[in-house]
Formats: sequence, structure tokens, C-alpha cells
Amino acid sequence: MAKMTVRDLPVAGKRVFVRVDFNVPTDGQGAITDDTRIRAALPSIRYLREQGAKVILASHFGRPKGKVADEFRLTAVGRRLAELLGAPVQKLDDCVGPEVERAVAAMKPGDVVLLENVRFYPGEEKNDPDFARKLAALADLFVNDAFGAAHRAHASTAGVAAYLPAVAGFLMEKEVSALGRLLERPERPFVAILGGAKVSDKIGVIENLLGKCDRLLVGGGMANTFLAARGLNLGQSLVELDQVGLAKELLARAGDRLVLPVDVVAAPAVEAAAPRKTVGVDALGAPGALGPTDKALDIGPATVARFEKEIATARTIFWNGPMGVFEVEPFAVGTTAVARAVAISKAFSVVGGGDSIAAIEKAGVAGRIGHISTGGGASLEFIEGQELPGVAVLKEKVRAL
Ligand code: 3PG
Repeated sequence: MAKMTVRDLPVAGKRVFVRVDFNVPTDGQGAITDDTRIRAALPSIRYLREQGAKVILASHFGRPKGKVADEFRLTAVGRRLAELLGAPVQKLDDCVGPEVERAVAAMKPGDVVLLENVRFYPGEEKNDPDFARKLAALADLFVNDAFGAAHRAHASTAGVAAYLPAVAGFLMEKEVSALGRLLERPERPFVAILGGAKVSDKIGVIENLLGKCDRLLVGGGMANTFLAARGLNLGQSLVELDQVGLAKELLARAGDRLVLPVDVVAAPAVEAAAPRKTVGVDALGAPGALGPTDKALDIGPATVARFEKEIATARTIFWNGPMGVFEVEPFAVGTTAVARAVAISKAFSVVGGGDSIAAIEKAGVAGRIGHISTGGGASLEFIEGQELPGVAVLKEKVRAL
């Protein structure tokens, strides 16, 4: 990675402002349902403690829109972090102000403080320089380890870098290296797999990947829009009519690099008990192929076989987005098959996006994936080829002449 990391600066005795992404999913009652993002930040936190730094952690949590809201407090996150770290974590009730300043002034090397949700202040999302300056005044150095929030130009992800030397944490380094490897020097064939409901969410990603990958396999609801662009009748399936023109252009540009489903599993309702049928895409539109309320809800077995074949030959894989409505068991078949195929392939594989990661975990194959990104939107923007604001502000490594 071309950016400096936490290894490149002396941190002993320093107050280090570490931006982490502790925006973890909860069950609605405040219990954390997946602590992956907390675990992913541990290497940087452990390193800083071992080096004798004073670790000041900052994160957002949910979207409280600039106001204090109890359900968005980081209290449960702080408790979980302390358990995982095996060390005390002092969770504060604010992220700036006199109480925070007092707590930081009392810190000793190796101590860990967790600030309250930075999004309780409107200045965070506005990247307000005053708010950024207040956060920065707590510390001597800025370590950005919040890859999941690096696509946001906010005060705690980017603004603080105007006032403090800014370097990457280990998670940031790992994410940028893994995703960068896909774009810069993928071993070929490079097979990208995209799914999810909408083409409109992933236009930039498709465009950039088409210039980089050898095959782009498209499944999920977004495939319907491409099939409609081929003139097929998708019945009641989700089709983004305003994207059909663009889908046509992409198909023309991509030629046989863009691989669409050859069959779909359709049902009249997104319910486990709904009667399902497999329809070849060439039969779509033929009388009786789809019932009046049928919608395509998963890729079919012939598509699974085709995708598995492409995945098996790949040396590099990127996957984002489910192949169907995988939350409802009978329509998870395609997504689960892709998860297994990616896991058993010998390729360097990168998986991003909550649903694809959930499918990988459900299939019990997480250990066989090259890199599971902690960033949803951030990984997509990276793959679009955009420089993320939280990465752009980090110091460049000084190159030897
Ligand atoms: C995420 O969960 O993708 C990140 O934490 C960013 O959250 P946001 O979309 O609310 O900015």
C-alpha cells in the first residue's frame, strides 16, 4: 500500500485518535448480532497498546442524524470490545468537551478510551472543520482503521487529518491491499460476480469491472433488468425499467464477458411455501412459462452450473450481492452454491457486502475466502475505482530514490 501505516510512526506515549468502524448489526434490542467489525479492529488496538500508546477510539453507530439518541450509544460495543481485548475499555458519554478532555488527560500508556458516537454531532457528517479540530485536539496522531466508513468524507474519517499526522491502521491496510490487488494486478482469469436487487446501485462497479475482469457473472434481481434489455419478458419480476437502456449499452459493450442467468426460479410470492418453478430464460414470455403473479427469485440450476464452471477456472474472484432472495430459504440455493464455489476455488477471492458475507458464513466457508471485506458501500466505491476520502487523507509512504 502506498500509504503510511501505524508501523511507520513512533507511537509510544502518544495519544492516538483511532477511527474504527464499530457500526455493527444489532437485534433491535441493543444486542450485537455480529461483532466482526470489532474483532477486525483488534490488531491495531493491540499493537498500539503494546507500543505504549494511549488509544482513543472513535466510531459512528447507526444514523442518529446529528442528535443524541440512546439507542445509538456505543455502550454495548464498548463492553464487547473489552471482552474481546481482555482489557478495560473506558466508554465515555461524549466524544468532545471538558469531560472527554479530562478522561484523556488521565490516560496512561496502554489505556483504551472509547468515545461516544461521533454522529451525535451534526458536524461529523458535515465534515465541519471546527468539530474536526475539537476531535483532533484530543490526540497527537490519527490512525484511520475504519475502512467501512472510508467512503464518507466526515470529520472523524477525513477532517481530523487536517490537524494531525494521519496513517492507516492494520485493517485499513489489509482492505486496501486486498481490494487494490483486484484492480491493479489480478491474476487471470479474473471473475467478478455481482448480485443484489438493483442495477442502479452498481452501475459504477459494473463499468469499472468490465474494464478489468475477464468474466462478469450477474445474478439476483439486477439480472432481470439485463434480461429485459435482451427483450425477454420477466412478468412480475423486479425490473428497473429506467435502467433497461443502460443495461442494453452495457451488454453491447461487454459482449460475452457479461454472463447472465440461463434459467431462473420463479414463484408467485416471496414465501417459503410458495410453489416454485424453474424456467429457462429463452422460454420467458412464452404462454404459460410464468404465471400472472410469478417473479424470478433465484438463479436456476443450469445457471448455477454455468457460474460454478466459470468460478472453478478463476484465479481471482470478486463477489458482491446475493443471487436471489436468499433470506427465504428456498430462494437461497443459488447464493449458497456460489458461496461454496468461491470457497473451493483456488483463486484469490474477495467478498464484500453484508448479504454475500452472510451467505459465506451460513455455508460455513468463511475460512476459505481470501479476504472478507468489512466495508459494504466502501468496498463497492473502491471497486468503482474511486479514491475513498478516508484513504486519500493518509500520508503517502516516502519512496526510496
Ligand atoms: C457501513 O455500515 O456500511 C458503514 O459503517 C457506513 O455506514 P453509513 O452508510 O451509515 O455511512
